[in-house]
Amino acid sequence: MSYIRYKNNKLFIENVSVNQLASKLKTPFYLYSEGNIVENYNSFSNSFKKSKPLVCFSVKANSNIQILKILKKLGSGADVVSGGELLKAIKSGIKPNKIVFSGVGKTEEEIRLAIRKNILLINVESENEALLINKISGQLKKKTAIGIRLNPDINAPTHKKISTGKAEDKFGLSKTNLISFCLNISKLKNLKLNAISVHIGSQILSENPFKKTLKVLEEIMIKTKMHFKFVDLGGGFGIAYKKNDRKINLKNYSSLVEKFRKKYNCNIIFEPGRAILGNTAVLVTKIQYLKKGSNKTFAILNAGMNDFMRTALYDAVHNIIPVIKNSKKNKGPLEFVGPICETTCKFIKYNKYQKLRESDYVAIADVGAYGASLSSNYNTKPLIAEVIINKTKARIIRKKQDIKSLLIQ
Ligand code: LLP
Repeated sequence: MSYIRYKNNKLFIENVSVNQLASKLKTPFYLYSEGNIVENYNSFSNSFKKSKPLVCFSVKANSNIQILKILKKLGSGADVVSGGELLKAIKSGIKPNKIVFSGVGKTEEEIRLAIRKNILLINVESENEALLINKISGQLKKKTAIGIRLNPDINAPTHKKISTGKAEDKFGLSKTNLISFCLNISKLKNLKLNAISVHIGSQILSENPFKKTLKVLEEIMIKTKMHFKFVDLGGGFGIAYKKNDRKINLKNYSSLVEKFRKKYNCNIIFEPGRAILGNTAVLVTKIQYLKKGSNKTFAILNAGMNDFMRTALYDAVHNIIPVIKNSKKNKGPLEFVGPICETTCKFIKYNKYQKLRESDYVAIADVGAYGASLSSNYNTKPLIAEVIINKTKARIIRKKQDIKSLLIQ
């Protein structure tokens, strides 16, 4: 079922007309479909249901506590990368024994917090981090469960700024270093090496790099002869932002995962972010001005790169769709841009687009993952509101930030 669709040329999120909502609330705002989040979560976990994985939603993709609460109710755990995300996950009700903590630069304070909370795994990214966790665990008289993150040196076809699994990337340990780490782990008395983890990048649309990663993991299992209670296969599953983007086929990969799980008698963890939230939201924004350029029209929106960064940061393609469709045509090409004083504060250009007027609403599509969580106060703009729809009901899950909070220092 499509939760974001047109009815009589009007854009609806579930059973709520976006135009009606936009006339009531101040634009811009993020607008989510709860039904869509639930469907994505269930469909992801169903794809791997034979392996009964623990799905740890990657909180960096969307860290709104109300959204985390929805996922928690569905059984989700959390993948966090900071003390702040860890506290948010716990506040949303996710039990510490379903939380994994990754990241190359965990501070002492964050490590202490994670140890005290008894989370499922701290996924260690370097030998020296393991030494520090061992030391702090000793001080706290605890034995801490860790995973060790592999850098499998696999080139996953995706944007170069979101690839994490090549040797030149800062993440994880190389195969050789990881094997020697495993063979010496008994020296670190306050650690339990419970897992091996891996995450090769984000927005990956082919199953092949994931399959190759499983092969590298097999090699390590064979060489170390170790039993890992958990194998954390990370996230990275891409979604179709563009019409012709290929859809990732998880069927075949999931049977390989199941074979692997049986052979090595381990529990599987996944850390999806984008696949659960990506297509569940739009950013509703108003056309502030129309301006004639020398060879195109600029539609200047009241949302900018501070509200939604992906285009400026990764040249990501996000369609912008009208809130009310019409059959008239704009004369010549049209480019949607934002108000921020940077040339990269622009979204997308169309050669053909319908006729628009100032004050019309439009919606930036597929912004549920790495949208609100990446937004900032650049140009001293307050963070915008987040609203979620459940059938006919709209609920504000983050109020627009009060400008006063930006005027303190
Ligand atoms: N696990 C780890 C260790 C990660 O580093 C990430 C994402 C994930 C899981 C979740 O990946 P996903 O399933 O969402 O692809 N801001 C960029 C994406 C950065 C991803 C960073 N790590 C974007 O907007 O495309």
